[in-house]
Amino acid sequence: MVESQNAKSKTSDQPSDQGRRTFLKTMIVVAAGAALAGVLKGVVSEIIAPQVGLSTFPTLQLVNSAGTPIKYSDIPVNTPTTWLFYYPLSNDPNFLLKLGDKNGSPISVGPASVTIPADGSTFVFPGGVGPEGSQSIVAYSAICQHLGCVPPEIHYYPPGQAIPGTSYGAAQNNYGIIHCSCHGSTYDPKSGCAVLTGPTSRPLPNTILRYNQDGTISAVGMIGPTIYGKASDLTGGTPFPAGQVTTVVTNTGEA
Ligand code: FES
Repeated sequence: MVESQNAKSKTSDQPSDQGRRTFLKTMIVVAAGAALAGVLKGVVSEIIAPQVGLSTFPTLQLVNSAGTPIKYSDIPVNTPTTWLFYYPLSNDPNFLLKLGDKNGSPISVGPASVTIPADGSTFVFPGGVGPEGSQSIVAYSAICQHLGCVPPEIHYYPPGQAIPGTSYGAAQNNYGIIHCSCHGSTYDPKSGCAVLTGPTSRPLPNTILRYNQDGTISAVGMIGPTIYGKASDLTGGTPFPAGQVTTVVTNTGEA
């Protein structure tokens, strides 16, 4: 009788043990799920981290390191050394060039339709800026569109200068060429930095300049492909401080 009571008691405990086990298993699964969710959330937020940036292109006047506005006459024809400024964000380098011929006379750079070989689309390069008849100043992103090399690897070669390791000897370089020594891409700065030779399949992004009535110059936008490595020209970097209306042009001194 006692035995049968014990047996009954044992039998009546079984559902309770099973319930605890089920409960414990459930808790383990929930805890593991929560831990995994936490890890995934960290990974996902790392991947889609909110991009710092701007909603519109700023207007920034080009100035020298002393804060004095750069004027047309301040920039040497054929820009024998590298002049750079940052736009539209504070870590986006751009070439500033005054284009000329082999004799050192500035040329007027007209608008041009530029093809993006990567997808066959086109955009309109607005041409250079400067006094009437001398619109010879242009600006382009200084980050190669192939794999992102920056100056001095990507470099402007004035007219009449041979480009080492290419078919552009002094005689072939009539109006200046931008060449990237990382893998050999070349761009035509008098035609919206269209692709002359690959491996790049995208022109350099064009930095839109405005020639102001007082002879100064401002950067006001970008056109063409997106700056290399960014989802948009206005994000993925550090904006200039609020209220800043200038960007400093630096002559790096590199020929
Ligand atoms: S990064 Fe410029 S050619 Fe490859």
